[in-house]
Amino acid sequence: MATPTYWDYLQLDKLLDQQGGLGGEVSPDELHFIIVHQAYELWFKLVLSQLRLARDHLAAPHLPEERVPFVVHHLGRVNEILKLCVDQFRVMETLPPQDFLDFREKLTPSSGFQSFQMREMEMVLGLAEGQRAPYGNVHPLAHIRSFGEATPAALLARARIEAASQETTLRDALIRWLARTPIQGSSPGDAGDDAAVDGFLASYLGNAEVHAQSGIDALVAALGEDERARITERVQAGLDASRTFLLPEDRAARRARAALLFIESYRELPLLAWPRLLLDTVVELEEQLLLWRNRHARMVERTIGRRVGTGGSSGVDYLDKTTQQRIFPELWAVRTALLPRNQLPPLDAPERYGFAG
Ligand code: HEM
Repeated sequence: MATPTYWDYLQLDKLLDQQGGLGGEVSPDELHFIIVHQAYELWFKLVLSQLRLARDHLAAPHLPEERVPFVVHHLGRVNEILKLCVDQFRVMETLPPQDFLDFREKLTPSSGFQSFQMREMEMVLGLAEGQRAPYGNVHPLAHIRSFGEATPAALLARARIEAASQETTLRDALIRWLARTPIQGSSPGDAGDDAAVDGFLASYLGNAEVHAQSGIDALVAALGEDERARITERVQAGLDASRTFLLPEDRAARRARAALLFIESYRELPLLAWPRLLLDTVVELEEQLLLWRNRHARMVERTIGRRVGTGGSSGVDYLDKTTQQRIFPELWAVRTALLPRNQLPPLDAPERYGFAG
């Protein structure tokens, strides 16, 4: 075997020969445009591999405590990549609007909308179809499928989204893991588990009412008695939302949400330390993805204003709607329900959450 070299190991001859675009002359500005997009796609490739690793750990029927740090580690890497991806738009923005217009028509109607790796990331994470922002009459996945086998890349795009649509999502794996978490020392399958979960939720919501009342009194004292009705209505709406969120009919969903509340509330317990880090890491991931979407939309607005996209969407209006998409709404919603430490229901069986010797 030949002596290993840097260029052979990284296949630089092939990598550096892939910036020719659609053929013909590629101006320095277009080279910039191509390389920024390719750099993103390479990061997306790494993000996908890390998401799948994390998902595989999390989806195991039993996740031993010592494996949770692996999940956090891989998702933490995704978060660092996403932060870089958010910042990378600064490089894209060095392309002034008119310099982009010089070659924009050449690309039409291709668009980042066709980034099948972005769609794969959304699918592996677990973006529900009903959560997608409306994109006129073209559905992102149907759009990719519509190219059939036109080119090897179209074939690859289609195969990749079909395979991703069959995978367990990170979201499903996380919710199933949450639903198995011991709550007040009780695990699914234990005698009286439903009662333990409901008892925990009832005492939490009871304390939340007391807490809400003291919140109303404090605000009224600060803003004046005239404001009482308006403040009470708002606080009551928050309480009602928490009740609806914490008491869904579906038992598995209720258990998973109670577990979220439990982990977030008693996060100092040794055995909950890694689970709560995991939840923080997933929230950060969703936050970074939303920041990416927002940053992309602002970069697009700066470059092409409010004109229609090369993919034919309403452009910035469509992109702004995608910033409303949430894959892990429960992880955000639980924050509204949280109580200060001194108002938490007392812990049953705290010894179950210590480290085993
Ligand atoms: C001058 C630079 C860019 C412009 C003007 C631009 C414009 C747009 C527009 C208007 C859309 C909406 C779909 C359409 O009608 O085409 C879109 C979607 C998209 N773009 Fe860009 N883009 C740019 C750079 C990038 C870069 C560097 C990436 C990195 C991969 C990217 C990734 C995407 C993705 C993934 C979508 C789909 C978003 C979704 O449907 O959720 N774009 N882009």
